[in-house]
Amino acid sequence: MDVTAEPLETLRTRTSMKWRAQPDDVLPLFVAESDFPLATPVAGALHAAIARSDTGYAPPTSDLPEAFASFAAERWGWQVDPAQVWTTTDVGVAIVETLRRVTKPDDGVIINPPVYFPFFDLVVESGAELVEVPLLGGLDEGWSLDLDGIERAFAAGARAYLLCNPHNPVGRAHSAEELRAVAELAARYGATVLSDEIHGPLSYPGSTFTPFLSVSDAAREIGVCVTAASKAFNLAGLKCAMLVTAAEPNSRIIGSMPLEVYWRTSILGLIASIAAYRDGGEWLDGVLASLDANRLLLADLLAKHLPEVGYRMPEATYLAWLDFRELDWGADPAELALEHARVALSNGPPFGASGAGFARLNLACSPEVLTEAVRRLAAARASASSAATST
Ligand SMILES: Cc1ncc(COP(=O)(O)O)c(C=O)c1O
Repeated sequence: MDVTAEPLETLRTRTSMKWRAQPDDVLPLFVAESDFPLATPVAGALHAAIARSDTGYAPPTSDLPEAFASFAAERWGWQVDPAQVWTTTDVGVAIVETLRRVTKPDDGVIINPPVYFPFFDLVVESGAELVEVPLLGGLDEGWSLDLDGIERAFAAGARAYLLCNPHNPVGRAHSAEELRAVAELAARYGATVLSDEIHGPLSYPGSTFTPFLSVSDAAREIGVCVTAASKAFNLAGLKCAMLVTAAEPNSRIIGSMPLEVYWRTSILGLIASIAAYRDGGEWLDGVLASLDANRLLLADLLAKHLPEVGYRMPEATYLAWLDFRELDWGADPAELALEHARVALSNGPPFGASGAGFARLNLACSPEVLTEAVRRLAAARASASSAATST
């Protein structure tokens, strides 16, 4: 199935963050929303819900656990127990509520910068303390988890590890071997691994997304997965995410949160997510083909028009982590990109200290928009560099 991004004039009628945060002369390639039309089964399920005025509270049980379990088995060979799937508002809430239960105030929680910047705030919101263990590697050789650093952090007392799998912003799909090693370390030190797998369905041909809870008995014992249909199917505004466990004691811990945590699930999010997992597979494959073409197109465009900008194709996610350091656009190139090229990228520094000189680009758009964005960035090269050096 061909799934192509909507034209700009249609997109500009949307009222979400991506289309309302900037004036109309800006190409928005920042927040992780995508420009594809909704999958037909998802749109159909939502229209039907509206037609029957089905907009009350989410029910206490639903078909989502079964739908997700079938999707996970089919896509990744991961056997999910539907009895160990709970829903809540969004992945951010799932992370905070889980960390609150598996850590005590001021316990350490490991994160791997550069990483999805709200992780910094979510750990603090939970009452825990950040322990940064940066990713190893970089654009040239690719990224990997610093297993020695993670072990040192556990040995020093970190009680939890907030893993981004696949990793936003670098697009790494962590290997089964790395994840197995993480699970063993966490089990040895009695820590919990919270694996954020919201980008899991967005892995490209040639790469493999590995669900953390699928890698070993140790992972099933110490792991919690938080995920949602919201990135792959562009449903973030519908507010429905899942918490998944595979064994005691985490099933007991996650299954005994205050009822309010589960009640905050939106019924429209639930309805859309069920339709996405059950009937959205063909649409998702179409989206992945379009994204795959875009990640290759971005490599071509940069090589031709902006060879100073470093880029490594993501293995998963529709995000590109761009290195502007050779262009001398300063610590926060996204600021100059907005001012001089009218392209909105995500600022690099909030992703961690190693984000200085970087910006994140969202390539879930049409090839035309991607091409125009790189053209604008290239045209702004001189004025942005001189602005950076004069400040
Ligand atoms: C890794 C990661 N986790 C969580 C989220 C946000 O999820 P939610 O809107 O469900 O809180 C995002 C959004 O881009 C993300 O990239």
